[in-house]
Amino acid sequence: MKYYAIFKNIITLMYSFSQVALRAGTETMRTIILCLCLPLIVGCDTLIPLKVSPPAEVAIEYTPERIARGEYIARHVTACTHCHSGLDWDHFAGGLPKAGTVGGGGYHFTESLGLIGSYDLYARNITPSALGEWTDGELIRAIVEGISRDGKALFPIMPYARYRHMDQEDLYAIVAYIRSLEPIPNPLPNKRLKRLFKYIERTFPKPYDPQLRPDPSNRVAYGEYLATIGDCVFCHTTMTISRKPIAGMDWAGGNSFPLPGGGKVYSANISPDPETGIGDWLEDDFIELFKSYSEPFKLPASKQHENTVMPWVAFSGMTEEDLGAIYEYLMSVKPVSNNVDPWPAED
Ligand code: HEC
Ligand code: HEC
Repeated sequence: MKYYAIFKNIITLMYSFSQVALRAGTETMRTIILCLCLPLIVGCDTLIPLKVSPPAEVAIEYTPERIARGEYIARHVTACTHCHSGLDWDHFAGGLPKAGTVGGGGYHFTESLGLIGSYDLYARNITPSALGEWTDGELIRAIVEGISRDGKALFPIMPYARYRHMDQEDLYAIVAYIRSLEPIPNPLPNKRLKRLFKYIERTFPKPYDPQLRPDPSNRVAYGEYLATIGDCVFCHTTMTISRKPIAGMDWAGGNSFPLPGGGKVYSANISPDPETGIGDWLEDDFIELFKSYSEPFKLPASKQHENTVMPWVAFSGMTEEDLGAIYEYLMSVKPVSNNVDPWPAED
């Protein structure tokens, strides 16, 4: 037992060490340090402690009001149905979910970072065909804590870390809506994680810590709430290679994302810096830009490399009030100068 504890501490230490390496080092530094952390590469991931709490014992009432509110949030704010449906990547931003695929799963995420590892997984089927047996408590735990029914961690591409503080009523509304989806039988391949990603996954799940949804009349606080559960913060805050936010780079963009059709796109700087961000945009410009994507359009083959992972079409269904609140919040954050070209020529 004692040896096990020592071994566990060594692995945890190595893991922390590798995180430091991923934050600062150059490519060569990273390779050297990761080689020193060999056990991580061989696989002792289950030694990284995983926080699992028992699912809450609740039975949610699926009222029509809840289902309607849940549909609005799940389709247009948290964009659950953007990831958990079959999209059409001939279209800009993946277009709308294809008929008969809503919630049936399908978005395929895959990336390889050499020695650091790789991931290859699908956004799962969340219709009653797949989750019919789950209790409401199990569904809630998956959405806001990142633990699947079997007690295993969910990969953090599923934005449970941003849903952790979601208002309980919004969460219940989403559950009510997910329950109302048309069942779609659609078995998907199992996820495949390699090396560091197996460890990273285990560090994300944390207990639900609900907060009240700010009153919409408090536009900045309400906008911040929407920008968090809408996952804007994840894509638009500059991150290290292991996807940790960099202090002082809030909303400054520059993160690269693989495009489903091949190639990459870099997230825009949406801090209120007038030169490199959106500081000189008016609220109407911001709202109109989102609304302009409500009609999905096909990209010509020659323009496929200028596609995007930003769920524009899903967000275009947000109300003007909600988009306006997000704008107001973004205008209240610190401007950060960071010049980003979403589609640089060399990629
Ligand atoms: C950015 C894409 C993305 C968004 C947005 C997203 N998910 Fe997921 N979700 C995933 C991925 C990827 C997985 C699979 C994770 C894994 O296998 O470890 C997943 C897993 C899940 C699971 C677990 C299913 C299972 O079989 O274990 C549930 C439940 C779920 N998501 C519900 C939701 C709900 C509800 C929302 C909106 C509030 C949502 N997701 C938003 C990508 C997403
Ligand atoms: C999955 C990642 C992702 C998410 C989530 C995301 N964005 Fe983006 N966003 C991008 C990328 C990549 C670009 C650059 C390419 C493009 O214009 O689509 C971008 C571009 C933008 C632009 C255009 C800026 C300009 O200078 O033209 C705005 C505004 C924006 N995002 C706001 C938001 C808001 C608000 C949210 C949340 C409601 C959000 N984004 C969520 C990835 C994302």
